Parts: sequence; C-alpha cells; structure tokens
Amino acid sequence: MKLSSVLVLPCVLLAACGGPPRPATAPAAPAKAPAPVVQPAAARDPHSFSHPDEVAVDHLKLDLTVDFDQRQLSGRASLRLTDHTVDRLILDTRDLTIRRVTLDDGAEARFTLGDEVKILGRPLEIQIQPGTKWVHVDYTTSPDAAALQWLEPEQTTAGKRPFLLTQSEAILARTWAPVQDTPGVRMTYEATVRVPKDLLAVMSAENPTQKNADGIYHFKMPQRIPSYLLALAVGDLEFRPLGSRAGVYAEPNVVEKAAWELADTPKMIDAAEKLYGPYRWGRYDILVLPSSFPYGGMENPRLTFATPTILAGDRSLVSLVAHELAHSWSGNQVTNATWSDFWLNEGFTTYVEGRIVEALYGKDYADMLAVLGYQDLQESFQELGYPPGGPDLRLHLDLAGRDPDGVPTTVAYEKGALFLRSLEKAVGRQRFDKFLRGYFDTFAFQSMDSARFVDYLKKNLLGGDEAKYDDLHIYEWVYGPTPFPGNAAVPHSTAFDQVDQAVAAVKQGTLQIQTQGWTTHHWVHFLRNLPSPMNAETMARLDNTFHLSASKNSEILHAWLMLAVQSRYEPAYPALESFLTGMGRRKFLQPLYAELAKTPEGTEMALRIYKKARPGYHSVSRQTIDEILDWRG
Ligand code: BES
Ligand code: ZN
Repeated sequence: MKLSSVLVLPCVLLAACGGPPRPATAPAAPAKAPAPVVQPAAARDPHSFSHPDEVAVDHLKLDLTVDFDQRQLSGRASLRLTDHTVDRLILDTRDLTIRRVTLDDGAEARFTLGDEVKILGRPLEIQIQPGTKWVHVDYTTSPDAAALQWLEPEQTTAGKRPFLLTQSEAILARTWAPVQDTPGVRMTYEATVRVPKDLLAVMSAENPTQKNADGIYHFKMPQRIPSYLLALAVGDLEFRPLGSRAGVYAEPNVVEKAAWELADTPKMIDAAEKLYGPYRWGRYDILVLPSSFPYGGMENPRLTFATPTILAGDRSLVSLVAHELAHSWSGNQVTNATWSDFWLNEGFTTYVEGRIVEALYGKDYADMLAVLGYQDLQESFQELGYPPGGPDLRLHLDLAGRDPDGVPTTVAYEKGALFLRSLEKAVGRQRFDKFLRGYFDTFAFQSMDSARFVDYLKKNLLGGDEAKYDDLHIYEWVYGPTPFPGNAAVPHSTAFDQVDQAVAAVKQGTLQIQTQGWTTHHWVHFLRNLPSPMNAETMARLDNTFHLSASKNSEILHAWLMLAVQSRYEPAYPALESFLTGMGRRKFLQPLYAELAKTPEGTEMALRIYKKARPGYHSVSRQTIDEILDWRG
C-alpha cells in the first residue's frame, strides 16, 4: 500500500466536517481503498446547487409511474445519505413539482424551492437532522422536462405505441429526479417503474428482457454512478441476445436489423478488456431508439442508448458502439469531476474507441477515423477563432455560468484524443497501455479532474521527470489554447491517399475516379474535401453517378447534403428536407441548419422545414437549432 492511502482518510473526514478542501495536486487515492462517495479533491461544481462536501447521497430509490397522457412521471425519490452532522440537504431540481418531503420513517420535513436560476433550475433545500439517513421526496415532472422526450406512436419507427426516452447528460437528470446533480457524487440506485401494460421499461441498470403482465418493472444498479448516467426508456421493445453478456433492445420492426448490425459488440468488449482490464458493469446491452434521439449514442451504464442512424446495413458505423462501450472505462468508471473536465470523459473515450476499432478492424480503419477526427478539430479551431486563440480551444475549460450542453465539444473529443495519441507515441504503446490501465484501475468509481490527472501522469508515466513534462508540453496541452502543441502526433491515413487523388481529379473536371472498395469513411473524406461550392453541373454528375441524394448511409448523406447546401444544389433539397424531418440527431442537424442560415433564402427554407420538424426533436436539439435560427415559436 502506498503512503498516499494513509493520507487520504483524514482529508475525507476534514471534508465531511466542512474543513478545507484538499489541494488539487494532493496525492491520489490508492488502488484498493474504498473510494469516498465524493472526491475530496474535486473542485466545487458550478452546475450544481448541492453541497456534497456536507452530506452526500449514496443511494437512490425511485418509485415512478409513467403517465403518457399527462406526459409526466410521478412518484417518490428516496435518497439515502452518508453519515453527517448537518441540518440541511440541498438537491438540484428543474421544472419539478415537489408535493411533500418526509424523513426516515415518515416525519414531515420542511422544504423550500429557491429561485429559478437560468440553466441550473431551482435548489430544493430540505431541513434534516444531524444523522438523518433517508429523505423521501414526492414529486411530479413537468410535461416540458428537458431530459424527457415523449413520442406519439407516429413518431416511433413501428408507429403503433408511444415511447418515452430520457437524456440526462449533462445536467438534465434534475428535470426528472431531485438529486445532487453533479458528476462528483456517485450513488447506487434501484427503481420501480409502472408503465402501460403493453410497454417495456428499461434503465441504465439490470434490465428485464420481456414485458410482463402487470407493467411494473424493478431495476437495480449495484455499481455507484453519477446522476448523469440515470436513464429510462419505455416503449414497445424487444430484446435479442448477442452472445452471453451483450444484447440489443429495439422496436420490433428494427430489432433484427439492429442485432445484425451490432453483432461485433461481444468482440469489442473482449478487445477493450484485454487492453484496459475487466468490464465492471455486468452486461452490456444497446438500446436502439427511435430516430429523434438527439445524440449518436449515450453511454448509459449496462445499456448504451443509440441512434438508429447507425444502422447503415453494412456495419460501417459501429465505431459508435466502440465509443459508448469505451465509456465503460473512461467516463463511467473514472468520471470527470465537473463538466469543465469533460475532456477526461470524451477525449479518453475517443482515444479508447480508436484502440477498440484498431483491435477489431485494423490500423487502416483506425487511421481513417483519426484523420476524420483531426479534420473536425482543424475546422473547429477555425470556427473558434484561431489565431489568436479563444478560451474554448483548451482541454480544461471554465464553464461556470455557461450551459455545458451549449459549449462546442470537438476540442474535448479530438484534441483530447490527439493528446493521448501523442503521449502514446512519445513513450511507446506498451508503456502507455500499462499506464492507462493503471489509471482506470486506480481511480475506478471515482471522479477525476485535470490537475489530478496531470499529477498522476507526471508520477506514473514520466517518473517525476520535469524535463519530460516540459518536452511533452503537458501544461500547454491541458491548459493552453495552442491547437496543436509541437509534439502532436498528426494522424495520417494511407487509405485516404487514393481518395485525395480522386478529389484532385474532380478539381480537374473529371469524374473518372476509382471508387471500388470505398467504405463509408472513404466517401465521407471524399465529400468533405471536395472544393465548395461546386458548380451545379458537377454536383449533378456526382449525384447521377453515385446516387448520393438517395444514400441510405446517414454519414455519407450528411456530408453530401452539406456540400449540396453550400453549393445551392437544389435537386438535393427534397432529400435534405426528409433528412431534417426524419431524425433528430443534433450532430447532423446543427451543421445543416447553420449552413442554411448563412443566406436569406436558406434561412427561409430552414425556418419552413424547422417549423414542421421541431415538434419531433428532443429539447437538446431544439435548443441548439432555436439559437441558430433565432426561433421564437
Ligand atoms: N456522452 C456523449 C454524448 C453527450 C455528450 C451527451 C455531451 C450530453 C452531453 C456520447 O458518448 C457521445 O460522445 N456521443 C457521440 C458519439 C460518438 C461516436 C462521438 C454522438 O452523440 O455523436
Ligand atoms: Zn462520448
């Protein structure tokens, strides 16, 4: 046992007594000691009203009824508290109606809901007694709860039954449960969920695989998770196993297709375990949602939520599963302490995604993804104003006062991954793999911030060598605005060399290009790198030759439609309209609407389409597009 383990205990006690917080560079918690519910080193989370340093919630028990008619969840959240000596508990809420609060075995508790703060919602302050163990909150959600999306039958894929889905990351869990809504607090949870009899409920927990007769489902999540990983979906769902510990849930008319598409999932789990140690969550299932889901994927533990836009029919978009699975180590197992260190979740995950993909499909494949990511990063540096370099070019951000869901994220994903690839290149793969595995083990089920990571890195990868720390530009990577510090391992894809030749040919005016054997990623690279705008004739020739407007592959279609909007290629507009009205994935919507909004005619078309499409989008996507189009309803 390292000396640091001895030092940690007094700090925990100090924090619990309201003592001074541990400095950010204090020794890290050791590998085997039980991790505290709240990381004492964690900086205060500006996106939560809670004071987990006073008292923390370590278990949540939900008992909820899902009412599709009223579009509300109603019931009780019982929160179990860690040992404490305080007389108040502050929870995060947004748009919740609180009916009643009781303590332990039923004594009524006084509570107040503070004033509404934009983005954050309202603090629920409950009077408790020193030693109070349980707090029971009876509440109802609002029909407009931002995390929840209620779908009419016609908005689902099968079109017969309604559907409910949640999206809690980053700070939306508080719109459907009163919790300490900060990634710096972890809790186990259990739930009872009552749904209409012909629907199945699933959560980020141990799940049923079949509907039952009474529509009452029980859930248990025995591992401690932060609140942003609370998730629920209710719908006409079926299950198909993919091997012994993985499976897929989807509506009946997509479940076979989804099971075929995602068949490599068990191999991905094996590959990840080989690299980074045991998968610690039991099962790994994937829920393929109706097309309104606002993200590509969401790493809800035990049950990744995924967009159906990855079902390309040729398994070419399954790196998204590698990504969400990777979060089982980076993010879910070691968690960013606040949203300012989001790169510790997403940058690490993008790196690990690349490694899983490489293990399954080879280096050429991983290189293509890395290059596409690098191009995203270059583009985003341009948009964010480099030079001279804005604050959002940094890995560690200061997000106080800002909506974490409204901040551009490519830097966290791609600069974060590039940083780790650069470290790997500098120290060698073998050493880096060992280091990363040690990091995931050491901090399992704990939260992490940039300062602690850098500290751990210095000691465990660089052997405390200050010169190396400088050589590798560590400080500059994490805290500096430099887009590409000197040691950046710029990716190269030999597979894309032939695509670059094709791009050059098109620039010369010929479509005599060799596209045999091109995968989705070749096409995306091709379309993104064509000169833009393109003349109508070349666009038409491309479309006629390669049937791009009719592509069933969401990534190819998206890249083509971007070019079509930039080039004002009108024959693609019907395809554009059906793409924008047919799915709600923000990553696809945002650039297209933003591109349209650059011209008056485009804005007019965007507004016309948006008016139709908006009711089908999740609040996360609506908020983004509302801003782009200055939408006032
Ligand atoms: N955790 C993210 C989704 C997220 C980020 C939700 C920020 C809320 C706030 C998820 O793991 C993710 O990164 N999804 C990507 C997929 C991916 C392959 C990069 C997405 O949705 O596009
Ligand atoms: Zn992610």
